[in-house]
Amino acid sequence: MGNDRASAVVVFAPVQRDAATLGRLIEDDAMQVHCCADAQAFYAALGDTPLFAVMTEEAMARCSLDDLSGILRTQPSWSDMPLLVLADAEPRRIDSNRFVHLSEIGNVTLLTRPVARLALLMALRSARRARLLQFAVRDQLRELAAHADVLEATVAERTRELQAEVAERRRVEQNLAEARRLESLGQLTGGIAHDFNNILQVVTGSETLLRLLLGADPDPKMLRALQSIRRAADQGASLTQQLLAYARRQPLANIVLDLRKHLHTVSEMILHMLGADVQVRLQITPSLWPVLIDPSQLDAALLNIAGNARDAMPQEGRLVLAARNRVLPDAALPEAGQLAGEFVEVCVTDNGHGMSAETAQNAFEPFFTTKPFGKGTGLGLSQVYGFAIQSKGLAFIRREDTGTTVGILLPRCASAPQAETDRKRLPAREVEGMRVLCVEDDPDVAEVTAMMLQSLGADVTLADSADAAVRLDLTHIDVVLSDVMMPGELDGIGLARWLAAQHPRLPVVLTSGYVLDPERLQGLKVQFVRKPCAIGALADTLVKAVKQAAKA
Ligand SMILES: Nc1ncnc2c1ncn2[C@@H]1O[C@H](COP(=O)(O)OP(=O)(O)OP(=O)(O)O)[C@@H](O)[C@H]1O
Ligand SMILES: [Mg+2]
Repeated sequence: MGNDRASAVVVFAPVQRDAATLGRLIEDDAMQVHCCADAQAFYAALGDTPLFAVMTEEAMARCSLDDLSGILRTQPSWSDMPLLVLADAEPRRIDSNRFVHLSEIGNVTLLTRPVARLALLMALRSARRARLLQFAVRDQLRELAAHADVLEATVAERTRELQAEVAERRRVEQNLAEARRLESLGQLTGGIAHDFNNILQVVTGSETLLRLLLGADPDPKMLRALQSIRRAADQGASLTQQLLAYARRQPLANIVLDLRKHLHTVSEMILHMLGADVQVRLQITPSLWPVLIDPSQLDAALLNIAGNARDAMPQEGRLVLAARNRVLPDAALPEAGQLAGEFVEVCVTDNGHGMSAETAQNAFEPFFTTKPFGKGTGLGLSQVYGFAIQSKGLAFIRREDTGTTVGILLPRCASAPQAETDRKRLPAREVEGMRVLCVEDDPDVAEVTAMMLQSLGADVTLADSADAAVRLDLTHIDVVLSDVMMPGELDGIGLARWLAAQHPRLPVVLTSGYVLDPERLQGLKVQFVRKPCAIGALADTLVKAVKQAAKA
C-alpha cells in the first residue's frame, strides 16, 4: 500500500480486515492508497488534497462531526472531495443523523454493508472520475490565475509608462507656458524700455543743449544740477540696456567664439570678484564646440550669475564654472526642454543658501528680487535669460541639494572660431605690465574694470573721482582710463583737459554709457570706449591710446 497522501485514496477503517480489503480493491484498480490509523491522521490526510476518502462506520464513530465538517467546509472553491462511508444497513453505534448532516456539507455517499465488490468498485471509480474533473478545473483555475498575474503586471507596467508620459507632457507644457509668460513679459518690457530710452534721449539731448546755452562761464549751481540730470539719465540708460537685453532687442555684436579660452579669461574676473573666501573651480571640456555669441553679453551674464552666487555665499563657499558639449535632447538635462541639436552648456554652481521653489520660478523675470531695497534691481538674471534666448539657446535654474546652478545653453556654431582670440591676444599681451589709472566713482564698475585689466596683467590704480585723480602722483602711470560723469569739481572731460595741460604725453581713454558731446571734446586727443564694454574692446582701446601717444 502506498503512503503518498496527496492524490491518493485516503482510507480510514479501524477494523484491520476492512482496511486490508479496501486497500487491495483500490490498488487493484490502479489507485494509490493511504491508510490512516486514527482520526488525527485522517484529518491531516484530508487536508492534503487526496483523490477522495473512504471511511467505515467505526471510523466515523472515532471522528468528531465538527472536525469533519470543518475540514469539508474549508475546501478550496473548486474542490468537492467525494467521501464514501461504509455503514451497516442497521447502524448500531452511530447516529444516522450524522450522515445526513455531513451530506449537507460535503459530497458524501453512503454505502451499506455488505457491499457487492462490483458496486463498491463502481462507486470508487465514480468518485475518482468526479474528483479528476475537479482537479482539471483546479489546473485551469491556476493557469487562469497565472495569466491574470501576467496581465496584471503588464497593466501595471503600462500604467507606469502612461504616468511617466503624462508627467513628461505636463513638464513640457509647464516649460512652454513659462517660456510664453517670459516671452510676453519680454515684449512688454521691450516696449517700455524702448519708449523709456527715447525719453532719456530727450532728457540728455536737452541737458547737452542747456550746457551749450549756458555758454562759456556757467553758474556752478546750474552745472551741478545739470550733472545730476546727466547722472540720473546715465543710470536710466544702463537700466534700459538691461531691460533691452532681457527683451532681446539689443543689437548683439556676435562673433564665433572659442568659448574655452574666453571662459578662462572670464574666470579670472570671477575669481577677483568673489575674493579669497570663495573657492573657484573650473570644469571645462577641452574640445568645447565654438559658439556664435556676443562676448560682452556673455561676460555680463556670467558676472551677473557670479554676483548672485557671491551674495548667496556671504561667508565662504565654492563656485564651479563648468562647460561641456551636449547633444539634445539628453535625459540627463531635462531643463533643456524642447531644444534639439548640438549645444554647449555653461553652468555656474554655487553652494550658497539656494533658492526657494517660488524664487526659482520667478528669478528670470525683470525686477524680481529678494534683496533689500537698494541692493538689487532684479535685472541680473533677466539679462542672462534674454542673452541666452537671443543667442538661440536657453537659460535655466536648477535648485541643488545645497546651492544653485544657473545654466546657459548656446547652440554650436559650424564655423571655426574667429579673430576674437587673435584680436584679444595681441592687445592683451601689450596690456601686460601696463600701469593704468582707473578713475570711476561707481565702486562696482571700478571693481569689475580693475578685475578685467588685472586679468590681462595690467597694474591698476583706482581713483574714485577726477578730483582725487589730479592729486595723485602720475609719473608712474602709462594710461588713464576715466569715466565721464563723476561728482566733484572735475568730470572725466575736465580731467582729460587738466591732463592735456599738466601731463601732455599721458594717453587718456574716456568711457561712458553715453555718446559724448563733441563740442566738449574739441582739441582733446582722447580715445573713447562705450560702457559696458567687453574686455577685448577695453584692451584694444588702451593699447591704441598708448600707441597714438607714443607717435605724437
Ligand atoms: N545663486 C543664487 N542663489 C540664491 N538665490 C539666487 C541666486 N541667484 C539669484 N538668486 C535669486 O534670484 C533673484 C533674482 O536675481 P537677479 O540677479 O535677477 O536680481 P538681483 O540679484 O536681486 O538684483 P541685480 O542682479 O539686478 O542686482 C535674487 O534676488 C535672488 O533671490
Ligand atoms: Mg543679481
